Amino acid sequence: MTSHIGVPAMKGILLAGGTGSRLYPATAAVSKQLLPVYDKPMIYYALSCLMLGRIREILVITRPHDRPAFERLLGDGSRFGLRLVYAEQSRPEGIAQALTIGESFAGGGPVALALGDNVLYGAGLSGQLRNAASLRRGAHVLLYPVANAQDFGVAELDPQGRITALAEKPKRPRSNLAVTGFYFYGPEVFEMARGLKPSSRGELEITDLNRLFLAEGRLSATQFGRGVAWLDTGTPEGLHEAAAFVRAIEQRQGLKISCPEEIAWRLGWLEDAQLAEQAEALDGTAYGTYLAGLLGERAIRTHVVG
Ligand code: G1P
Repeated sequence: MTSHIGVPAMKGILLAGGTGSRLYPATAAVSKQLLPVYDKPMIYYALSCLMLGRIREILVITRPHDRPAFERLLGDGSRFGLRLVYAEQSRPEGIAQALTIGESFAGGGPVALALGDNVLYGAGLSGQLRNAASLRRGAHVLLYPVANAQDFGVAELDPQGRITALAEKPKRPRSNLAVTGFYFYGPEVFEMARGLKPSSRGELEITDLNRLFLAEGRLSATQFGRGVAWLDTGTPEGLHEAAAFVRAIEQRQGLKISCPEEIAWRLGWLEDAQLAEQAEALDGTAYGTYLAGLLGERAIRTHVVG
C-alpha cells in the first residue's frame, strides 16, 4: 500500500504483551488485553484508534502462549478490512522492544505503535489520529492531562506547546501531561531502537527512545483537552471505571465506542454485504444485532467517521 506521493503508508504495531500483574488473578489465565471493557475485548479499543488513523496493515505482538487466543479473536483482520499478522514477545523486555520485533514488518516505512491496553475516545479524535499517522519522519506523541501523572510518562512543554523534557513515572511530575500509549515514528526509529540500552528496571523504555528524538528536535506532540477521554485499564478500579464510561455513552447514544466492524464499514473498507455477513454470523447476539442495525440505519443517518 503506498500513498499518493509514493511514500509507504504508515503501518501499525499493536503491543499486547506484558503480565498484567496489577490485575491478577483476572490475568492469571487470560491476557490483559483480552479482558472485556464493558462489551468488547480491551484490544478492540487501541485497534480502533489505529483504524481511525487509516492504518490497515498491523502487526499484533503477544506473549507466545497468548497468540492462539488473539488469532482466534482477530484472525487475519479481513473481518475488519485489515491485514493483521502476528509476532511474539518471548520475554517482556519493555515497550520499545516492540519496535525491534516489528522492524522487518515495517519494511523501511513509518510506523504507529499502540499499546493494547489504552482506551481513547472523543470528539475530533479521528482527525487527530489521521493527522498523527501522516507523519513520515521524526516522532509524534499524544498527550493527555491526568490527575496522577506520576503513573505515566510525563511531558514538560514550553509556552509554545513544544516538548522540552520527558520523564518516565517521575516521583514529582513537573506537569500533568501524560504521554499516552500511541506513538508515531518515521523509519529512522528502528535504528534508534536497536541502540537503546535497558533501564535500571531492565526494560527498553519507550520514554528513552522518545528522548532521543527530543534531543534531536524531532519530537512533536498533540495535546488533548476535555473533549477526549483517555482511560486507564491497568487496575481493577481503572478497568471498572472504563467499562462504566463505555456503558454510559453507548446506552445513551445507542452507538458503540470502538467497534472495529463499524469503523471499517463507515470508512468504506467493508461493503454492506460483508457487514451483513458478519452480522449474520453473530446472529442472536447483541453485537450482531448492532451490526445488522447499522445497515438498516444507513438510509436515514450517516455517522461518517472523522
Ligand atoms: C507505559 C509507558 C508510559 C506511558 C503508558 C501509557 O507505561 O512506559 O510512558 O505513559 O505506558 O499507557 P505502563 O503502563 O506500561 O507502565
